[in-house]
Amino acid sequence: MVQQPALSFPSVTRHPSFLEGLDVYRVPVHLQPARRIDVLSHLSGAFDLAEGQPVGHSVRVAHLAGAFARALKLSATARRRVAYTALLHDAGVAVRALPDEVDGAGGHTAAGAWVAELMGLESEVQTAIRATHERWDGEGRPHRLAMDDVPVEALLVSAAHWVADFMGAVSHPLRVRAELRGVTLDDLEPIVGLRVGRAVIDELRSDAVWMLLWNDDLALHVAQSVPGEGRPSHHHVDRLATAIGRMVDASVHEPGHASSVAMLAVEIGRQLDLDESYRRALRIASQVIDLGQLGVPRHITEKPAILSVDEMDIMRQHPGWAAQILEPIPGFLEVARWVEAHHERPDGRGYPEGLDGNEVPLGARILAVTDSFWALCSERPYRPALTPLQAVGVIEDGAGTQYDPSVVRVLRAALAAMRAHSRRADAA
Ligand SMILES: [Fe+2]
Ligand SMILES: [Fe+2]
Repeated sequence: MVQQPALSFPSVTRHPSFLEGLDVYRVPVHLQPARRIDVLSHLSGAFDLAEGQPVGHSVRVAHLAGAFARALKLSATARRRVAYTALLHDAGVAVRALPDEVDGAGGHTAAGAWVAELMGLESEVQTAIRATHERWDGEGRPHRLAMDDVPVEALLVSAAHWVADFMGAVSHPLRVRAELRGVTLDDLEPIVGLRVGRAVIDELRSDAVWMLLWNDDLALHVAQSVPGEGRPSHHHVDRLATAIGRMVDASVHEPGHASSVAMLAVEIGRQLDLDESYRRALRIASQVIDLGQLGVPRHITEKPAILSVDEMDIMRQHPGWAAQILEPIPGFLEVARWVEAHHERPDGRGYPEGLDGNEVPLGARILAVTDSFWALCSERPYRPALTPLQAVGVIEDGAGTQYDPSVVRVLRAALAAMRAHSRRADAA
């Protein structure tokens, strides 16, 4: 586990804000308050990437499980739990290192429960996620629970997953439907029991369930059909983004990276006199910056050497994958653009698009500096960690080519301010 080295800087006087020319590429951001489900129904696409599924798998499982739950006339509370269990059933797949205090029995289902806890979801959802590979007949894992000992939420997600797996093998929707007509209670009973099995068979005859399955707005539909979600709030958005940041860090073995990037980005925003809503968006974008890396195979992210051209091509897709997931979230359009462009460069030699320097939004220019700074301060298989002072030197050398000079100019002041904050926090 790589620890971020402590900051050690001579104190730096605050640089006067540099705003000249920034308005050209500074678009105001309006992150909206949202309900948890509005954000998570889209973010679940990140878990699909990790499971090697096409984006949309988790939300299809949630849609099917929700339809089965309505057929069973489950309470509003139980239906809400079904939705979260379904959306998070693969959340743990990418997580490689659970914190020591988390019970890891069950592998990815235990890790998924940990992600649910980070998101502030109730213990019943965590328990149900842990049980998504249990079976009615007691032949499941990890605890070989049987019958009513398996939470009904987990049984419904198993049933929905069974249908989704079937769809994966047969491509055309009408053929899937026709082939599923041959499914009998005998097929389903050992997995989910008679009661759930009957509801599944009934629901799979419904046109509405099938028609929605291939709908581009399925995430929106799932979000709207979940009861008891309360009011939209910024708090939900912050908490989910922070949870995703910790999850991505736990999957690329870089604990603390996302929150360090966020702290520095917010401080740079302050040095540049960016307003509160811009800084909030910078914090959120920093947390989700490498969401797309969940789709990069492990043999590439963990390769202890320089990547081959083909491996680099795959790695270079991660900002685009993240943007695809983030864009449809209400209020996230600008954040998605920043994340997509965080490896673009002023000299036009960045990726994924090789944008002309003037086209790179300010948020992305800030993220490029903060992401690189902390990456340089971390050990890599092919080089030791740099000291903060060495990392600043590397970034200053890249001003005007790899990094925006107006952002680089405030880096030292932002780091000094961060250090002063943490000193004050330590003293308190
Ligand atoms: Fe899955
Ligand atoms: Fe990245």
